[in-house]
Amino acid sequence: MCGIVGYIGKQDAAPILLDGLRRLEYRGYDSAGISIRNAEGFKTTKRTGRVENLRKAVLGSDHGGDIGISHTRWATHGGVNDMNAHPHVSWNGKMTMVHNGVIENFAFIRRELEAKGIDFSSETDSEVLVNLIAFLYEAERDSNGTSDLEALMKSLRGALSQVEGTYGIVLLCSDLPDTMLGARKGSPLLIGVGNGENFLASDVTAFAGRTQNVVYLDDGQIATVARGDFSITTMDEVAISPIINTISWDIEDSEIGNYPHFMLKEIFEQPMAVENAMRGRFSQDNSTAQFGGLNIEPRELRQIDRILFLGCGTAWHACLVAEYLIEKYARIPVEVEYASEFRYRNAPLDKNTLVFTISQSGETIDTLEAQREAQRKGYRVLGINNVVGSTIARENDGGIYQHSGPEIGVASTKAFTSQCHIVAMLSLYFGRMRDMSFSEGTEIAKALKKAPGLIAQALNHAGEIESIAKKYAHHNDFLFLGRQLMFPISLEGALKLKEISYIHAEGYPAAEMKHGPIALVSPDCPTVAIALKGEIYKKSLANIQEIKARNGPVIAITDAGKEFPEGLADDVIHLPETHEINHATLMSIPMQLLSYYIAVERGCDVDKPRNLAKSVTVE
Ligand code: F6R
Repeated sequence: MCGIVGYIGKQDAAPILLDGLRRLEYRGYDSAGISIRNAEGFKTTKRTGRVENLRKAVLGSDHGGDIGISHTRWATHGGVNDMNAHPHVSWNGKMTMVHNGVIENFAFIRRELEAKGIDFSSETDSEVLVNLIAFLYEAERDSNGTSDLEALMKSLRGALSQVEGTYGIVLLCSDLPDTMLGARKGSPLLIGVGNGENFLASDVTAFAGRTQNVVYLDDGQIATVARGDFSITTMDEVAISPIINTISWDIEDSEIGNYPHFMLKEIFEQPMAVENAMRGRFSQDNSTAQFGGLNIEPRELRQIDRILFLGCGTAWHACLVAEYLIEKYARIPVEVEYASEFRYRNAPLDKNTLVFTISQSGETIDTLEAQREAQRKGYRVLGINNVVGSTIARENDGGIYQHSGPEIGVASTKAFTSQCHIVAMLSLYFGRMRDMSFSEGTEIAKALKKAPGLIAQALNHAGEIESIAKKYAHHNDFLFLGRQLMFPISLEGALKLKEISYIHAEGYPAAEMKHGPIALVSPDCPTVAIALKGEIYKKSLANIQEIKARNGPVIAITDAGKEFPEGLADDVIHLPETHEINHATLMSIPMQLLSYYIAVERGCDVDKPRNLAKSVTVE
């Protein structure tokens, strides 16, 4: 939520910052802005809307300078307009700052500053923080013998200790042409360490292709960054020895290539994402899965009586997939909670409970705080994360990286199926520790390895699904029905459709339909129904018949091939038959494609749906 990039070096800062913002735009796209330091002070330009609007305003105009900061905003306080966009320049023009997070006591501080004659030009909490720092700085500079840097550090620490809430900030002061400051509490911030140049950003993709060396800041840390070096201190002025991590990435991973949208690119990357999730993660005898980073002995894992999965949105759906598969294949009771609810609920937990958090970004604040709460209570929390070095991943007691590559489209696709696949592997792992036989273990491991090929087959249906999407795109209500393991997949199908096409959609376990939602069924409300062979296949067909009897259009997704009754559904998407362990991953593919093509047909901005942002770092 909100993207931040700061640059200090020898090159022209503006093109570098704009390029970084373009890569970070998926984190917020209400408005964008840039401040470049020049001989007169700061040249600051802000524009409502996309980074492209800002780029047009900046390039070709006078934004020369080799130090600058920039921001792409997802509004929290104050409306979406140029005035509320970042960077915010202090009332006296001395400081410019970008901020990600929420200052909760901003109204109180603002009143106090206004009483002292400070003027404000926006409605934001962020401007309150920069004005407070600038106000304290003026007082510090008057103290005898204090250097500008000392005064700035003191005023920064003083201001940060007064504010309540969360922040990731980057700050420039006109008195210090060779220094960029960053601080974090609750919002990600990292240093990109270059050669004669350095970056501060909320996300590594901001400096993709410029440096692979990254230092992750922890909460309560302040970074003082110059061209050739940097240092990190705590709020109590304790120096920290930085750990420089090397990111292994391919710049093309964060580029759109020949695809019209990142979402489509990421849908088509799923065979590889799932392959990456499995790499090196099967035992030599192929009878179970193995995970190097769990940091827990199998002996201890066998003592677990219960597992609690926590996540938000799509990741919460992956938690539901985990519940079904682990309960079925490992016979361990699993509970699933919204991380946002768990953190405030004081849920009773059994002492032998193992906690898992699932988060693509590893920065979702509710998931992070739920994890911290479970850890405060003494529980071991393992994680499934995609972003290496993200806050949740770093604070996990152990975990599993997804290795899906950067997911830029706001609607999660490849990260979700990779999470589904990893929890399927976990069900095998836990199952083999308990009652699952060697032969069932090898059968499941063999089936799991077929997933990339099966996904590729599902992707071959893209053209057909595009035609189906065109037929139904004008409808404003959809139902998604699936039973058992297909229930979370129906929820996910409905979420995907509503978030990118703004169509009202609901997911239900098919049999529940009769207890209320059936009232919605009409020729105007199509149903996407999953009917898979197995124990409840006939029941699923009966549910479809109930919809057809009420003139509801049905798009069926099935693995029954010719057995699927002709004429029962209006449109049928046939997917290959496979072991149940692959169903969550495989059946998600047509759902994603359907949502994608419907949104395109309706002219929606697929990668940047309205009001949304990737990585929700505010409550
Ligand atoms: C929907 C979507 C969101 C995220 C949710 C959690 O397509 O992407 O619902 O799944 O905000 O995000 P992470 O997984 O980053 O914690």
